[in-house]
Amino acid sequence: MEPTTPDVQLLTPQAIREIARALGIRPTKTLGQNFVHDAGTVRRIVAAADLPAGTHILEVGPGLGSLTLALLEAGMRVSAVEIDPLLAANLPATVAARTRMADRVRVIHADALSITGCADLGLEEGDAPRALVANLPYNVSVPVLLSLLEAFPSIERALVMVQREVAERLCASAGSRTYGVPSAKLAWYGQAKSAGLVGRTVFWPEPHVDSALVSFTRTDHYDPAERENTFAVIDHAFAQRRKSLRKALSGLLGGVDEAARVLAAAGIDPLARGETLTIEDYRRLAHHALPGRRASAHAQGKVNLLLEVGRADERGYHPLRSVFFGLDLVETVTLTPLLGEETRVRVRACAGDLARLEGLADRDNLAVRAVRAALERSHRRAGFALDIDKRVPVAGGMAGGSADAAAALRAARAAFDLPLGDDDLVEIARSLGADVPFGLVGGAAWGTGYGDEVSAIADAQPRHLALAFLEEGLSTPAVFAAFDAGGGGREHLREELGDEWAAALADPDPSALAGLIHNDLADAALALRPDLQAPLEAARAAGALSAFVSGSGPTIAALGRDGSHARCLAEAMAQAPGVSATRVVSGPHNPREV
Ligand code: C5P
Repeated sequence: MEPTTPDVQLLTPQAIREIARALGIRPTKTLGQNFVHDAGTVRRIVAAADLPAGTHILEVGPGLGSLTLALLEAGMRVSAVEIDPLLAANLPATVAARTRMADRVRVIHADALSITGCADLGLEEGDAPRALVANLPYNVSVPVLLSLLEAFPSIERALVMVQREVAERLCASAGSRTYGVPSAKLAWYGQAKSAGLVGRTVFWPEPHVDSALVSFTRTDHYDPAERENTFAVIDHAFAQRRKSLRKALSGLLGGVDEAARVLAAAGIDPLARGETLTIEDYRRLAHHALPGRRASAHAQGKVNLLLEVGRADERGYHPLRSVFFGLDLVETVTLTPLLGEETRVRVRACAGDLARLEGLADRDNLAVRAVRAALERSHRRAGFALDIDKRVPVAGGMAGGSADAAAALRAARAAFDLPLGDDDLVEIARSLGADVPFGLVGGAAWGTGYGDEVSAIADAQPRHLALAFLEEGLSTPAVFAAFDAGGGGREHLREELGDEWAAALADPDPSALAGLIHNDLADAALALRPDLQAPLEAARAAGALSAFVSGSGPTIAALGRDGSHARCLAEAMAQAPGVSATRVVSGPHNPREV
């Protein structure tokens, strides 16, 4: 490729030494630093990358900037990730001194292995890099290459310099002597081929190994959801390279016999060795080995139109009477079966809620416990990953966490084909938490016991509400404790829902219902959080039929005459201090299968 801009001065051997001396840099072995000081080599790398000018390149380990300058010379834009703070700090100065294109380079001081996407590079999603061109740090070249291909589906091409033996592995095909974990995993993403050898003398200091170029083109034949399991099979198959697959995979697949059965089902000779399998074989094998399939279920937020609280029992739990009202504020819980018995949970949320996600993603997450309980009850063992896409505010008094657990139960039953009836799920739900059974039922429901005995209410008319979410969450146990301190619960609780409630819920006119809405926990929540008065008053001033604390708070709900009135209420509450967001919702809503 001809240089498109003549005014770039590439680094010469002398310049490399001068910059290094000025910075007081001695190349370190631990970071595998060997700087290319040969202009011909960096131009060759750029030419082999074969990319149109203007392409946004991700470079890893730019070092003193030899390759970065060659990329600029060819008209590229570069995002360069450098782990060494001194080198990262100096690169912009080198670029500025030797080109007039400092604005075409962004330097990110980071460990390339920690980069998971555009946000870590400070880039918008739309500006993701299209190619990877790098003299990779040799001691971590394979993990860096694989993790960046995972993190950036936008990367369609790569041209990397690595140690010669690594290059041979990356390019090897099944059956060859050098075929191994790196070959199979890189083949998941696309096709690699050798782009030539590089001698030792182009580096300073001269390394003790030979180097080679690998050219990669993404093909992306496979579903990313299957990658993790496929890679687990590959890791196990090569961990005992000399053994037959049925032995090598016995640990992962639950014994030699089970491994042999799965291999045969996938059309693979159980006595074959891992080095003979193509990436397609591995994918098919992982697919057949899975204990289930991916499944999703919706979880929904709720408000309590009625919440009456009795006196705490010896465990500190309170008998409750509740009218649950499920809302069309839904989030999705997705279960992906995993090979082995590992469990994992990933929780994503809108920005405002990120702080409250801390701790939600640990192994004791209620949704994880739900799946474990469902598996245990079915005498099954399996690994799984849960992805929860939060929409219901965390610690908001809307039972979002309980609803996630209920959704996880339904997803687990579908994913693993568990022999559990609805009654079994309700029983598991009750053992997990008071609000979880309602998460299974949804709609409008009458709750007794500790809130965990739930029966559906038929004929409830649609209602429109506005919700105000608060910047700060509120802990349910803290609200119950404040409630107890303030005099505690009712001596007597109603036996049944009562005719007035049945009539009000069935009445298309919401006024009668508005008159019945009541929450025993409201005063305790308001004592802890006086800031809740503001949205309550704003909703009342805007003509809310009823404005109330949802469950243990702090979310405030306001009942509107209809949808457009609910929108007005939301607008009014949005102005109140402490309110982070508002939503217009309706119910009763049942969680549907996805
Ligand atoms: O059942 P769950 O784990 O959702 O309850 C959270 C907390 O709410 C409990 O630890 C308890 O302090 C309080 N709670 C209660 N009585 C109930 C339900 C919940 O005191 N019936």
